[in-house]
Amino acid sequence: MTAEINLFSPYQLGDLQLPNRFVMAPLTRNRAGAGNVPGEMNATYYAQRASAGLLIAEATQTTPEAQGYPFTPGIHSPEQIAGWKLVTEAVHQQGGRIFLQMWHVGRVSHPDFQPNGALPVAPSPIPPKGEIFTFAGMKPYVTPRALEINEIPLIIQQFRQAAQNAQIAGFDGVEVHGANGYLLDQFLRDGTNQRTDEYGGAVENRARLLLEVVEAVTQVWGGQRVGVRLSPSSTFNDMKDSNPLATFGYVAEALNRFGLAYLHVIETLESDLRHGGTALDTRELRSRFQGTLIVNGGYNRERGDAILASGGADLVSFGQLFLANPDLPKRFELNAPLNQPDFATFYTSGAKGYTDYPFWQG
Ligand code: PHB
Repeated sequence: MTAEINLFSPYQLGDLQLPNRFVMAPLTRNRAGAGNVPGEMNATYYAQRASAGLLIAEATQTTPEAQGYPFTPGIHSPEQIAGWKLVTEAVHQQGGRIFLQMWHVGRVSHPDFQPNGALPVAPSPIPPKGEIFTFAGMKPYVTPRALEINEIPLIIQQFRQAAQNAQIAGFDGVEVHGANGYLLDQFLRDGTNQRTDEYGGAVENRARLLLEVVEAVTQVWGGQRVGVRLSPSSTFNDMKDSNPLATFGYVAEALNRFGLAYLHVIETLESDLRHGGTALDTRELRSRFQGTLIVNGGYNRERGDAILASGGADLVSFGQLFLANPDLPKRFELNAPLNQPDFATFYTSGAKGYTDYPFWQG
């Protein structure tokens, strides 16, 4: 009898050998320096967590217009590339592997973050409900400007350039952020995409931008070093879709042609259902996508081992648990107690709540 697969089983991810099936999920931490440049403190944070099979670095701007939060890093300037080099070198020094998550926030921004105080861009002029945290405190969202069809090639080019910059910075691969209500997700879902051109309407049209971005990025990296993240049921950032199974089932199948490293799915959360989200069973995507599947969503050791053993996923990503436990695989292995995440310091500045979570001293 072969041993059951669990979180500690090695995994061959394309041409990368992962020593275990723990993935650190991309986490916004708002700790980049001036100019949205990562530095030594960020390098320390990621290097501390290098025992993960794979680290996915936080959402990172492809261009200045892609920003919607204070102190999030970019990958569009020489200084940012140099800053990320510190991170990748520190992780590699510790024997780890790290992908960069590339994002454009689209409408989840504000003129305060935009060059020349311009309006944020989106598929359609529909603002998210609520308020945004700016450098000057909370402000209501503004109605974004719909991208002209002739502006879309530039968005794709920015992702392509960011992918090239990530290569120069020494990453092992990149993840395209198609989740959580940011620009690519705004195109995918019909709650935010009401375009009447070839980027709106039928799912084939709504998925066009994501697929064109993935095509550009895989031309840089080859498919096996590119992942895509999706969140079919998420209501975060005021998102909805009238038929997540049709939308995301199509996307999962359409991604097969790129031979990707993985598809990374944020599973349906209780909070999404409370906010009117439609549940989508991850097995629906598992059956349509012919590659590595990473699942995310409140996993602990038992549930992680269980989904791997059942073949429901290949890898499991952990957010808050990795944030609070730099040595998470070791703690699971030893059944050691876990540090509790401190919500108050998730998005603050400095080392507190960032690089000072203790390693297990058993
Ligand atoms: C956030 O900053 O709140 C955030 C960023 C990226 C995500 C989700 C949440 O994918």
